[in-house]
Amino acid sequence: MNEKLFKCAQELKKAQKIAVLTGAGISKASGIPTFRGKDGLWKRYSPTELATLDAFMRNPKLVWEWYNYRRKIVKQAKPNAAHHALVTLEKHFKSNFTLITQNVDSLHRQAGSENVLELHGNIFENRCLNCGKVYYDDTVYEDTQLPPSCRFCSGRVRPNVVWFGENLNREILDAAMKASATCDCFLAIGTSGVVQPAASMPKIAHDRGAFVIEINIDYSGISIYADEMLLGGAEEILPQLVAML
Ligand code: OAD
Repeated sequence: MNEKLFKCAQELKKAQKIAVLTGAGISKASGIPTFRGKDGLWKRYSPTELATLDAFMRNPKLVWEWYNYRRKIVKQAKPNAAHHALVTLEKHFKSNFTLITQNVDSLHRQAGSENVLELHGNIFENRCLNCGKVYYDDTVYEDTQLPPSCRFCSGRVRPNVVWFGENLNREILDAAMKASATCDCFLAIGTSGVVQPAASMPKIAHDRGAFVIEINIDYSGISIYADEMLLGGAEEILPQLVAML
């Protein structure tokens, strides 16, 4: 492992521009469950019942209960050593660093990362289906208040996250694609690499000649694009890697 870490550190040292893609695995050590795998949320719950616009229109209370439940877990969570290591990495590369995350838990921002692209939105934001306003809300609601109404027009609000079948925010997606296509080192951390378009980003980086490093406790859908695979918890490996710079 030391040799692999050393090689990755050398590649990072050579690089001018860095792009990082994170998934649920990076927040596992903060106590937030992942979606897939043995104890994953999608083993116990159905995404089509809980994470689609159809599901929300059919049963808004159930979908809000689900997001409220996750909000509660995320609100108690603190960034872990992997989130903090990425803050140090950003300081090293300054404006040549882009952090693309599929996570909606805000832990990268909470840790202090600045150039963060939240591909799938943010669990602490509501969006009104009536007036379209997006606003911060980290309230954990009582069951009787679900779903809450818009603060501005009393319309029905939804969580400002991307559900299955929905398009990602165009500007955020374009910025993420550009960062993937123009970096010379790409890190894919704690993602199963099965949800598009995020899953295509390591391939784009690889095809454009970037050195792709994967950090994961297991092989994933994107491991074939990794020039180096660092097998293990991100909370252990990332701090070691960053300390070598
Ligand atoms: P997944 O739950 O699919 O995958 C989590 C990945 O993290 C797996 O590959 C694990 O092996 C790995 N992992 C677990 N613990 C780890 C650790 N301590 N260190 C490093 N890796 C670890 O999560 P995502 O790939 O993020 O989308 O899922 C992508 C999207 O699918 C999510 O954003 C969400 C979900 O449905 C929406 O809700 C739209």
